[in-house]
Amino acid sequence: MKRIVILISGRGSNMQAIVQAAKKENWSAEIVAVISNRSDAAGLEYAASMGIPTSVIISKNFPTREAFDAVLQTEIDRYSPDLVVLAGFMRILSVAFVEHYTNRMMNIHPSLLPSFVGVKTHKQALDAGVKIHGLTVHFVTPELDHGPIIEQVAVRILSSDDEDSLSQRLLIQEHIIYPRAVRWFVEGKLKVNGNRVDVDVDTDLTN
Ligand code: GRF
Repeated sequence: MKRIVILISGRGSNMQAIVQAAKKENWSAEIVAVISNRSDAAGLEYAASMGIPTSVIISKNFPTREAFDAVLQTEIDRYSPDLVVLAGFMRILSVAFVEHYTNRMMNIHPSLLPSFVGVKTHKQALDAGVKIHGLTVHFVTPELDHGPIIEQVAVRILSSDDEDSLSQRLLIQEHIIYPRAVRWFVEGKLKVNGNRVDVDVDTDLTN
């Protein structure tokens, strides 16, 4: 059984999608903890209702990023995870923290990386006038929103789109590709080769 710790800051809908997929698809994995940096993260309630241990470490109470990350790392490592999943965890992470979880920490970012790093990615895409936007699941490296790409999905931008409509359409896709990428990890199907991730799947992904 692979052990997974999920970090959230808010709604936690990606965390829910992962928890549900793990259950429904009978993964050889257990979500061993959900940890939030905010006490008002709505996702905590869902996790608790599923019997998953939760903890809150309030980031704004710490004097420095490094101080918070050190405590967070200790808390995560109590659960000896194979994988740490960032699911709407709205924090920039220190280098030491990220390097501690090299090739075992994943993130989902709402753009087709390397375009549009940082926040407000839907606004960035609309402002740039691109016709295609999307999502990226990647392993986390010290540089913000970089790191070996595991999976991407593209959506067409419609002339009627605004930030809300775009984010709603993308969220549906997030809930499909993020659990799938985590499952690939659990099944040992991801091999990191420098900046590339080889995904050893039978499915023809072009369909
Ligand atoms: C998602 O849009 C994700 O791409 C971004 O933050 C949002 C989190 O949503 N990083 P949720 O908390 O998983 O519902």
